[in-house]
Amino acid sequence: MLLNTLSTTAALALALALPASAAPTSQISKRAAANDLSLTAQLKLASTATERFALLPNDSDFIFDFTTAQTPIATSQNFPPLVGTGLSFNMGSLPACSMSFVHLHPRATELLTLTSGHVLTEMIPEAGVVDAEGKARVIKTSLTAGQMTVFPQGSFHTQVNPECEVANFTAAFNSEEFAVGMVARQMFGFGDDVVAASFGGVIAGEDIEKVRQAIPESLAIEVEGCLSKCGIEKR
Ligand SMILES: *[C@@H]1O[C@H](CO)[C@@H](O)[C@H](O)[C@H]1NC(C)=O
Ligand SMILES: *[C@@H]1O[C@H](CO)[C@@H](O)[C@H](O)[C@H]1NC(C)=O
Repeated sequence: MLLNTLSTTAALALALALPASAAPTSQISKRAAANDLSLTAQLKLASTATERFALLPNDSDFIFDFTTAQTPIATSQNFPPLVGTGLSFNMGSLPACSMSFVHLHPRATELLTLTSGHVLTEMIPEAGVVDAEGKARVIKTSLTAGQMTVFPQGSFHTQVNPECEVANFTAAFNSEEFAVGMVARQMFGFGDDVVAASFGGVIAGEDIEKVRQAIPESLAIEVEGCLSKCGIEKR
């Protein structure tokens, strides 16, 4: 999903690189600590689950607090007990009148569940999935509290909160590091020749640079019509 409601990709990269903190105790961890390995790295090197539990001696090591976390995304990097589980989790909110950029998760399928509010989702799974007219099928859902949708691994998807109130959600991922691919930003990371050829030559030269510069850094964009309907100032 959005990871952090209005965070930038740079902030996200930083958040996903947070150092792990709990103190190591076992023999293996003393050796690993001497080599300056993070707790997450030590857990990944452990030979057994038993060794992993020894590296997490405190019951409090097993709590992730979304209410105080700098970024409300629990991955194996900032929540070491996830090492070996194949899972990560996000709890967050989509502000009123906002939309997440079209994105994908390179290593995980996402289960997005609304806990409050209303969100519209759109998803294009992969090439070859077409509608009755043979065009790329866009799977659209309208979710209210208590409803869930699935974004298969690698599918392009976006979410819109069309209401004047915040929408709260949880999202589960079947990877310890689900990560995010920003479709437009990454596409325009290629050189002009590649971009021009990819778009059939209809945009070229200065226009490519204009588009490249115009793609916002933030993961969420505001929906203008909705803002005026709700009397909300631009953030
Ligand atoms: C266990 O957690 C407490 C509080 O977070 C901390 O003070 C203590 O040093 C921890 N103990 C170990 C062995 O990590
Ligand atoms: C949505 O989440 C925010 C921030 O966690 C919280 O303050 C608010 O009460 C939640 N709204 C609802 C309707 O659950």
